[in-house]
Order: sequence, then C-alpha cells, then structure tokens
Amino acid sequence: MYQTINSPVNYGGLTLKNRIIFAPTSMGVPTQEWLARLQRIARGGCAMIILGDVPVLPHGFGPSLYSKKGFALYRQAAELVHAEGCLLCAQLHQSDSDFKAMLKYLPGFLCKKITADELRARLNDAAGPLVTRMSRRKIEKITRAFGEAAVLAQKAGFDMVQVHGDRMCGSFSSDVFNHRTDEYGGSAENRARFAVEAVSAVRRRLPDMPIDYKLAVRQASPAYGRAGVAQAELAVFVPLLEKAGVTSFHVTLADHCNLSDTIPPASHPAFGAEGCFLHFCDEVRALTRCPVCGVGGLTDPDFVEAQLAAGRVDCVAMSRQLIADPDWPRKVAAGQAGTIRHCVRCNRECLGGMMAHRGVHCIYDQNERKS
Ligand SMILES: Cc1cc2nc3c(=O)[nH]c(=O)nc-3n(C[C@H](O)[C@H](O)[C@H](O)COP(=O)(O)O)c2cc1C
Ligand code: SF4
Repeated sequence: MYQTINSPVNYGGLTLKNRIIFAPTSMGVPTQEWLARLQRIARGGCAMIILGDVPVLPHGFGPSLYSKKGFALYRQAAELVHAEGCLLCAQLHQSDSDFKAMLKYLPGFLCKKITADELRARLNDAAGPLVTRMSRRKIEKITRAFGEAAVLAQKAGFDMVQVHGDRMCGSFSSDVFNHRTDEYGGSAENRARFAVEAVSAVRRRLPDMPIDYKLAVRQASPAYGRAGVAQAELAVFVPLLEKAGVTSFHVTLADHCNLSDTIPPASHPAFGAEGCFLHFCDEVRALTRCPVCGVGGLTDPDFVEAQLAAGRVDCVAMSRQLIADPDWPRKVAAGQAGTIRHCVRCNRECLGGMMAHRGVHCIYDQNERKS
C-alpha cells in the first residue's frame, strides 16, 4: 500500500527518501519553539522541509543569513533536521511590500481608522508602483542577492534553495502590477526577466545546487490571484525559468488576493476540495521535464497515492496537514494511516493563529491541552 508515497525520488538532483515535503510555513513562534517544531516535523518522516521566507537581503524580516546570529540559527536548524534523516530547503524570499507606503498608513492603523485587512490590501496595491518604478540598480542589487543568499544557505547546511516566485518575483511577473516600459515590463518574456535573473544569480554562484521554484499561478476563470504567472503565460515562463537553472517546480495559486485563497479552507467556493491546485500542475507538467511538486489541501493518503501513481506530480507538499499531524508520513509508511489526525482545513489555529499574532498552532493542540 502507498508504494509510491514511500518510494524515493530524484527531485531536481536531490534524492528524497519519500514523496512528502513540508511546504514553506512561517510559524511566528519564539525561536526555541520554532526549532522544536522543525525537529518534530522532521521526526514525523517527511523527506524535506522547506523553510519559509528566508530573506535574500541582509535587512529583511526574520533571521538573516548575513548575520552571525541568523546564520548560526539556520545552521542549528539544518543540523536538527538532518539528524532526523530529513533534508532542508531555504525559501529565498524578497518582500514586495513598500515600507514607505506602510509608514503612510501606520498612523491610521494605530488609531484604528484602518483595519489590518485594509492595511494589507493597501500594501498589496502598493506593490504595483513599487515594481513599476524600481531603479535598475535596485533590481540588480536584489537579483544578485538571490545568489549571495544561496551561497550562505548552502554554507549553513541547506540542501536546496527555493526561489520564491511570488512576492517580488511574482509582482514583476504580473501584468496587473508591472507597468514598466523597459526590458522588465511589457511582454511576458520581459516580465519574466526579474525571476530569470534571480534564478540565474543562484545558478552562476552554485552550478550544482538544486533550485526549486515556487511557481505561483494566476487563475483566469474564475479569476484568482493577482501577482504571479497568468495561466496563459506559463508556456513562456516555465521554459525560461528552466533554462535559467530551475530544477523543479513547486506549483500553487498566486498570491496578492485573500490569504484564504492560497491557504483555502474546506468551505472555499473554488478551492475547497482535496488537491485544489493540482490542475495547475497538469499545465506545468506539459511544459517541462523537471519534477513537479503539488501543494494545497492534500490530506488523504489514498488520494495522494493516486495522484503520485498516475504521474500527475512527483512529490506533494503539505503545510497544514503536517501541522495537524507531523507523523503523517511515518504513519503512512508503517501501515497506520487509520490513526492520522486529519487536517479539516478550518484555518482556525494555523492561519488564524498567524493572523492574530499568537503563532501557528492547530485545533488538535488545544484539544490535547484540554484533555
Ligand atoms: C500558517 C501558514 C504559514 C505559511 N507561510 C508560508 C511562507 O512563509 N511561504 C510560503 O511560500 N507559503 C506559506 N504558506 C503557504 C503554504 O506553503 C501552502 O502553500 C498552503 O498552506 C497550502 O497548502 P496546505 O493546504 O497543505 O496547507 C503558509 C501556510 C500556512 C498555513
Ligand atoms: S487548525 Fe489544524 S485542522 Fe484546522 S486547518 Fe489548521 S492545521 Fe488544519
């Protein structure tokens, strides 16, 4: 049973011991708890953990690869995860938030004239002018930093890097946000240039490093997502990214909409079903020979096995399911799938906990605390 899930795979040059990856998930918990959570997830048997939002520039949010303390923390995370027989991938992230715009809205937010949701929406809208007006010097500085950060990530012990194709790469990719008239705007080829240069910077510095790309897809009908790559433009972006050095694609819905679209609850009108974004994988599959990883609402071992066995995807990534039960892979391998605590996609304590600044948790943790 679950033969494919439990079989190794070559994922862009890296051998994964099985097909389960922990999707990039910022946790918003104190450092020691964060390390313990990573260790726990690794112990549960997944093949690789993708660490969400590792900043590419020295001064991003979160621990910095460029500081002694941040580097040591990432190294510690790699050691803990490796000791459990799990690999570690750094999601290289460049925010597209315009912090000057944020300062403008801060007084309104602090005196509660602007809600957190309104602030987020205004910041999202500010990504358009930010990428449209960005100087070439700044573009070069950021894309070069993807290479620099990747070198540091490898030194810290990461086995792979993932270029975050949403946020800054996604806003450059999107004709909703990017209104430039130079070689970084206009045609799909030009809008792909920022992401291609970010990937190339990694490849130049690390000729052998596997590079995963978080390919954020904008759905045409019904329309979802504002940044990222429009479905109709995948045929331009995917080959260009592959040529630049991408060795695998992690495929999902594009952001800059509601977070509950990219992290959809079971009640979502379009993405409530198991494997809600796999139709994007089918499109990417037809355009590349690189391995493809699906993500989004994957919880049921029978369903996951069927998708893998049919060759629809090479791997699957799970965020909420491994928050709800980190032992999902171990249980599936041991013939104990019946004891899995299934994520019900309620978003109450994971996304809900993140939004309320109390850290990412699960309703099952609360039940455990009560009993
Ligand atoms: C609490 C939380 C934090 C997340 N943080 C990140 C992140 O830092 N970077 C990222 O690319 N995706 C992030 N995601 C999105 C997940 O990687 C994943 O794409 C999404 O949750 C859908 O997968 P799932 O149904 O298995 O949860 C986060 C998701 C959750 C629930
Ligand atoms: S709170 Fe737990 S069960 Fe609910 S969606 Fe989040 S991880 Fe899944």
